[in-house]
Amino acid sequence: MHRSVSLPIGMFDSGVGGLTVLKALRDRLPCEDILYLGDTARLPYGTKSPETVSRYAVQASGKLVDRGVKLLVVACNTASSVALDALRAAYPAIPVIGVVEPGAQASCAASRTGSIAVIATESTIRGNAYQKAIHALRPEAHVLGRPCPLFVPLAEEGWLDGALVEGIAARYLDPIFAGEVAGPAEERPDCLVLGCTHFPLLAGAIRNVIGPEVAMVDSAETTARAVEAELGRQGLLRTAPGCGTSRFLTTDDVSRFARTGSLFLGMTIGVDDVELVDL
Ligand code: DGL
Repeated sequence: MHRSVSLPIGMFDSGVGGLTVLKALRDRLPCEDILYLGDTARLPYGTKSPETVSRYAVQASGKLVDRGVKLLVVACNTASSVALDALRAAYPAIPVIGVVEPGAQASCAASRTGSIAVIATESTIRGNAYQKAIHALRPEAHVLGRPCPLFVPLAEEGWLDGALVEGIAARYLDPIFAGEVAGPAEERPDCLVLGCTHFPLLAGAIRNVIGPEVAMVDSAETTARAVEAELGRQGLLRTAPGCGTSRFLTTDDVSRFARTGSLFLGMTIGVDDVELVDL
């Protein structure tokens, strides 16, 4: 399909997590239309093999490409870690932007000491995607990765704060940031990357656990900037006045997507804005 300025930007995630990126994209590029797919029927991606995640990512992107999109944002760190090559091979005419490199950029800019902790899904940590992306920018950096898989269902459930969530966060994060096991204060990371697009929703609880000193970064804003730059390079930026629209596709329960998605976006998604699709 011929790509034109008026086509939407396509984005996908395993669920509603990628809406944290959609929000940043809409703030930065308010004129653009966005078509978002949440593959909720197959969530979580983060515990699955790279082969399975790549297959899911190609199928989710195929649905967006069939509808006509001018650029694809992989709004999922797990898929960005393992599927970018497969996506670029499957859809060579469409620019594909992942969230890991932008997240690595944000962490390198935020860390003073170069000691950086990354929390993400099991798959993202296992593949060392952030370690590689950070070392490409800052070879001397010390990168510590920790999987926090329980944060994904908590975010999907809308359980974002309170004693239970902070207890889980402490169990994951105290070994890095607090207590004897974490090592001397001066050797602890000064930056925490939220390397899963679901995690920014839990930022308040995470902040309460790690304290005020540690810089906390995610990929959303840097990804939005990367999208703007790429569209600009390709002459595909929409500058017409007026508000861009956001439309949503999901592979499972529409009303659940609308309800949880509204929480992520901080605005109401109506059930009429969400379409059930099969991949
Ligand atoms: N939100 C996704 C990520 O950024 C994946 C969560 C999951 O499905 O496990 O990694």
